This record gives sequence, C-alpha cells and structure tokens, in this order.
Amino acid sequence: MSASSDVVTYEIENRIAWVRFNRPEKRNAMNPALNRRMMQVLQELEFRDDFGVLVLTGAGTAFSAGMDLQEYFREPEAQGLGAVRQAQAEAYGWWRKLRWYQKPTIAMVNGWCFGGAYGPLFACDLAFAAEEATFGLSEINWGVIPGGGVAKVAVALLGFRDAMYHVLTGETIDGRKAAEWRIVNEAVPLARLKERVTEVAEVLLRKNPVVLKAAKDAVRRVREMTYDNAEDYLVRAQEAAAFLDSEGRREGLRQFLDEKSYRPGLGPYDTARKG
Ligand code: COA
Repeated sequence: MSASSDVVTYEIENRIAWVRFNRPEKRNAMNPALNRRMMQVLQELEFRDDFGVLVLTGAGTAFSAGMDLQEYFREPEAQGLGAVRQAQAEAYGWWRKLRWYQKPTIAMVNGWCFGGAYGPLFACDLAFAAEEATFGLSEINWGVIPGGGVAKVAVALLGFRDAMYHVLTGETIDGRKAAEWRIVNEAVPLARLKERVTEVAEVLLRKNPVVLKAAKDAVRRVREMTYDNAEDYLVRAQEAAAFLDSEGRREGLRQFLDEKSYRPGLGPYDTARKG
C-alpha cells in the first residue's frame, strides 16, 4: 500500500489492483515525478501473485489531463535537449511497460482525459469510461501536434475521418461518443463505472493467466503483421504459452471432452483444478 501523498497510489482488493494517478489538484497531469513513480509501481506489482487484473484510473475529477505543461514541457525545454529527452523516455517507458504488461489491464476513465493521457489509455487492454467523462486531443489548441505516440493512438483506435477530425479540431467528446468512436469499450454512468469495471475484471480473473498474457500480446502484435507472419507468430505464441503452462490446455480439453463439466463456448474451464 502506498502513502496517500504519493502521486501514484494503489490498493489490491479481491485480486484487482486499483492504480490511481493521484495529483487531483492538477487534474492528474503527468509530470516527471508521476512518470517515475508510475514506472516504479508498475514494476513492483507486475509479477506479484496476489492480483490478476490491473485497473488504471484517476483520483478526483480527472483520469488525466495529459502531460504537465509546466513540468513536462516548459521546464525541461528551458533546461535543454537532454532534459527533454529524459522526460520523454520516462513517460514513454511506463506506457510501453503497460502496453506489454504481464497482467491484463483496464483503463477506467472517470473524468478528464486529454492529449498524453491517450498513451496510457491505449496501453491498457480494455477501457471503460463514465458517460460524463470528457476526452480531447487538446494539443492543437495550445500549439503542438499530438506527439508522444498520441497521433498513432488516434489512428490505431479511430477510423481515419474521426481521427483526423479529433486531431484537427481539438473539440471534446463525452464518454458516450468515445464509446461510439471505439476509444473505449463502453461508457456507463459514473455512478456505475467501478461496478462495471469490477464485473469485467472478474471475468478475466476466471481465465488462465498464462493464456491471457499470450492472447493480449498476440492481439497487439498481429495488428501490424501480414497474414502469413501473423499465422506463424501465433503458432509460436501458442507453443510458448504451452511451455509456460503445459497443463492448462490439456485440463481445458479434459473437463469438456471427458468430464463434460463445462462448455467452452459458454464459459471458462475451472482453472483451480488439475486433472
Ligand atoms: N498541465 C499542467 N497543469 C495542469 C494541466 C496540465 N495538463 N491540467 C490542469 N492543470 C492545472 C491547472 O493549471 C490548475 O493549476 P492551479 O490550480 O495551480 O492554477 C489545476 O490543474 C486545475 O486546473 P483547472 O484548469 O482550474 O481545472 P478545471 O477542472 O477547470 O479544467 C481541464 C480541467 C483539464 C479542462 C483544464 O485544466 C485543461 O484544459 N488542462 C489542460 C489539458 C491539456 O491540454 N492537456 C494536454 C496536454 S498534452
């Protein structure tokens, strides 16, 4: 458990790790201190076996208002290129860790979500928003392009016309529109957001964790491969997963084919039992 004065806090509850941006007075803008602390927290948690799903969310009224314009942009720029590159590496570093995280991850967008916040949003495997949340690529409004991977996120998540509109106008959209544009999986009223995210996390907690990791990586990898490369990658990924967990798949088959205790089309095998 981390101190509440931390810029990142977390707690583990029923095998779900709730990790929070915690600079509510600055709308959880990502400054270098937050980026460094987030990397530490993600590293501390990654291979612990007391949780199976990580949820990233924000304290107060924001998920995150993006990069801290004072401490991430203005101050490093005043110090010179070395400071700029270091600040970038610290931010990009934890987003990359999150994109390839050992556990499945869910972004729970509780409020403001701007600019650089699309980095961690995309890094999470699934995303749920409050209908009342506000999303925007505000870069164009203050005079920069959506850098730091943000333009890439826009085209990865949105259709071409919507991505271009979102980037060029800087207009905000609410959670419902974000779901319609597929920036998030679903939007629900803020009052129901935690309950819905918990429900989805519980679905993931019932799956084989080795297979979850292999499957989430596969989805990210194959997006950028040719069909033939993907076909080959997936053969290897399946075999690598079987190396880490040789029993899982055999047990899944056994419970269906021999024991007839579940139907794979309708739900998972009982991962707690071994034949
Ligand atoms: N960088 C630095 N400081 C930020 C910030 C950011 N991205 N977002 C908010 N803050 C600070 C404000 O400067 C203010 O600080 P102060 O209390 O010391 O004056 C504090 O957080 C509260 O912000 P405020 O604008 O008063 O809150 P709000 O609830 O009225 O509005 C936002 C929230 C998110 C709409 C507004 O703060 C905003 O537009 N932020 C910038 C968003 C942005 O462009 N992000 C992209 C960066 S890549």
